[in-house]
Amino acid sequence: MEVATEVRQRLSQLETAVAVLPDGEDAKTLEQLGRLYTALRDHNVTRRDTLVAVGGGTVTDIGGFAAATYLRGIEAVYIPTTLLGAVDAAIGGKTGINIEGKNLAGTFTQPARVVIDVDVLEELPLDLRIQGMAEVIKTGLVGDPDLVALLEQDGLDAPTQSVVEMAVAVKQAVVDVDFRENGLRRVLNYGHTIGHAIEVAAGVSHGEAIAVGMQAAGLIAERLTGFVELPRQKAIIEKLRLPTQIAADAGEVSRLVGYDKKRDDGGIKMVLLESIGAPVVLPVGDDLLEKAIAAVVGPG
Ligand SMILES: NC(=O)c1ccc[n+]([C@@H]2O[C@H](COP(=O)([O-])OP(=O)(O)OC[C@H]3O[C@@H](n4cnc5c(N)ncnc54)[C@H](O)[C@@H]3O)[C@@H](O)[C@H]2O)c1
Ligand SMILES: [Zn+2]
Repeated sequence: MEVATEVRQRLSQLETAVAVLPDGEDAKTLEQLGRLYTALRDHNVTRRDTLVAVGGGTVTDIGGFAAATYLRGIEAVYIPTTLLGAVDAAIGGKTGINIEGKNLAGTFTQPARVVIDVDVLEELPLDLRIQGMAEVIKTGLVGDPDLVALLEQDGLDAPTQSVVEMAVAVKQAVVDVDFRENGLRRVLNYGHTIGHAIEVAAGVSHGEAIAVGMQAAGLIAERLTGFVELPRQKAIIEKLRLPTQIAADAGEVSRLVGYDKKRDDGGIKMVLLESIGAPVVLPVGDDLLEKAIAAVVGPG
């Protein structure tokens, strides 16, 4: 039989069913998880079947969680449709849903495959490309100077295929060393300690918040590690049309950072750069932390 005919025949024998989730974080609830389990049962899904999650990071997060737990684990395939999903959420095997806190329930379970369609990512609305680029620049800053140079040169016009390949390679390499986040994987939180607090206090998008968080981390690194490339980091973030300053209440941001785990005698532990591509985790004293926050937030 001709190969194409055989492929067509086999595909037509596949039995499929589709479940649709609500948009955004509303997808990652216990209620939606319950709906997914019910749909899997109604379609008599067995351990020989595969759950294919097609969508942004919210869809691969809950789809991955459902697959990891239904019948104690069925195969999952991710087809991320946002840039953030492709370079971050779909890579590294963290699944999760929100209960009270964000991602409070989850598993470390790798999908069998991640399929990234660059054509889909090229058609994304500009704001979603910018959101994804915030994680791309973060990934470059902690792990790939060539990716940083590419963004410095081409900004938002950087070729999607190269951007995705380079960012995924960095994240995959980190996760290969430290799957369960006992050490090295923390470097992927660059900009996130202060960024998360800004996201909550200022009510801005995750991408904007971590862009400002990276600027604050850069200011701290100038003092603690002798990091000299902050002007360059700032110029690239701005070229990607992301902010390095934002209106928020500095006291509120400091308070929220204080809640962020990882404290020891010397202060909050943060990912800082010694230079682009060379991250370190260091304790940061309250004084320096507050000065950096005050420098990146304006009156809220
Ligand atoms: N598991 C992990 O390691 C990990 C890492 C980072 C982020 N995340 C999670 O990822 C989520 C954020 O991901 P996200 O930014 O993709 O959010 P999302 O899934 O909410 O998608 C963002 C928006 O884009 C829309 N969208 C999706 N694909 C599109 C397309 N091709 N064209 C136009 N619009 C499209 C969605 O409907 C949604 O409105 C968060 O829940 C976060 O916790 C997980
Ligand atoms: Zn992030």
